[in-house]
Amino acid sequence: MAATDLERFSNVEQKPRSLSLGGHVGFDSLPDQLVSKSVTQGFSFNILCVGETGIGKSTLMNTLFNTTFETEEASHHEESVRLRPQTYDLQESSVQLKLTIVDAVGFGDQINKDERPIVDYIDAQFENYLQEELKIRRSLFDYHDTRIHVCLYFITPTGHSLKSLDLVTMKKLDSKVNIIPIIAKADTISKSELHKFKIKIMGELVSNGVQIYQFPTDDEAVAEINAVMNAHLPFAVVGSTEEVKVGNKLVRARQYPWGVVQVENENHCDFVKLREMLIRVNMEDLREQTHSRHYELYRRCKLEEMGFQDSDGDSQPFSLQETYEAKRKEFLSELQRKEEEMRQMFVNKVKETELELKEKERELHEKFEHLKRVHQEEKRKVEDKRRELEEETDAFNRRKAAVEALQSQALHATSQQPLRKDKDKKKASGWSSIYSVTIP
Ligand code: GTP
Ligand code: MG
Repeated sequence: MAATDLERFSNVEQKPRSLSLGGHVGFDSLPDQLVSKSVTQGFSFNILCVGETGIGKSTLMNTLFNTTFETEEASHHEESVRLRPQTYDLQESSVQLKLTIVDAVGFGDQINKDERPIVDYIDAQFENYLQEELKIRRSLFDYHDTRIHVCLYFITPTGHSLKSLDLVTMKKLDSKVNIIPIIAKADTISKSELHKFKIKIMGELVSNGVQIYQFPTDDEAVAEINAVMNAHLPFAVVGSTEEVKVGNKLVRARQYPWGVVQVENENHCDFVKLREMLIRVNMEDLREQTHSRHYELYRRCKLEEMGFQDSDGDSQPFSLQETYEAKRKEFLSELQRKEEEMRQMFVNKVKETELELKEKERELHEKFEHLKRVHQEEKRKVEDKRRELEEETDAFNRRKAAVEALQSQALHATSQQPLRKDKDKKKASGWSSIYSVTIP
């Protein structure tokens, strides 16, 4: 379709006209169809429990869903905060619920245990969903949605004020997840202290700009109850899976020497309010808020980071194709720049190595020349010595020849003498003349 056709069609303003029907058509069953489809499909609900080790997270989950989930006690010596998700298939009447409970194991135990792993976990679930949405062949229909729908933030019942770790963590999480703050183990704090503690907590949350989840008041059916419940936040809860006989009824409670704290007694704690708000009234709103508010924000930031925009300055819509082309161009020019940088780096390195090699060669040459000179000098000295020795040998040989000549003369002369005495005398004088010759 040409662009002009598109413009023409989009500019056509069509006002819907109201018509009355002549009889029953049947589309009034649409809500029932929707319900039936949802029931067949099942629901998923994901709860994140954040609170220090041993604060009562697992007990409260067991109490809320009236079952026993598999739980492991966390150690107080975890090296860092670790997120442990566990998924269960639950069924009530004909409704299937895929419930995931994620425990932030090791949170708040020691220093250096901050909220980052929790934020990363929540983001990772958003990212998985976004990746599924961006696939060409997506299967969102049977996709196991692991995005966190609610974060139950367990506050330690100190009666003082919120710890700074609590404030920092809730501040970091409030744009990513629906936070419902709860005061855990509320049976360990007196009624008047609890009242003051609640007011203090709410004051601190407001003054630090922490946005907690507000039960919606736009749906008439639940507006009143939700408005009342908003005023009760944070809920002070007690958890227990133990059953105690009160009157002639078995109730879930915690038994003490001085009495029994009944979990489902609204005079004892806010457990019923929490269950009402979390499960019976607002579960769907929590799911919806997660998708339309928190996930939407994540998706928008992520797509903007990737270079996608809805419109430019002149309010012209940006097409995906244009954005893709622009990103591709940007990427290619960046690639080219990097290539050129690397090429230049390579050339410089080669030049440096060449210079180093030349310097080494020059040094070697100088060394060689020096050695050659030393060698020649040594050779010349040896030659001189040899010549001297030859001359000495010649002189020695000459003198030896002279001595031998003298000896033979002397022997010859002695052989002419008749008398032995005279012979000896002559011989003696001959030897003395021989030995008078000095041998150098
Ligand atoms: P980790 O998973 O190990 O971090 O602990 P947790 O937060 O899951 O606590 P858990 O439910 O295991 O409870 C720890 C202890 O606190 C147990 O002895 C519970 O019986 C007790 N407890 C749980 N809820 C309450 C409560 O509301 N009041 C009181 N007084 N004790 C509770
Ligand atoms: Mg636990």
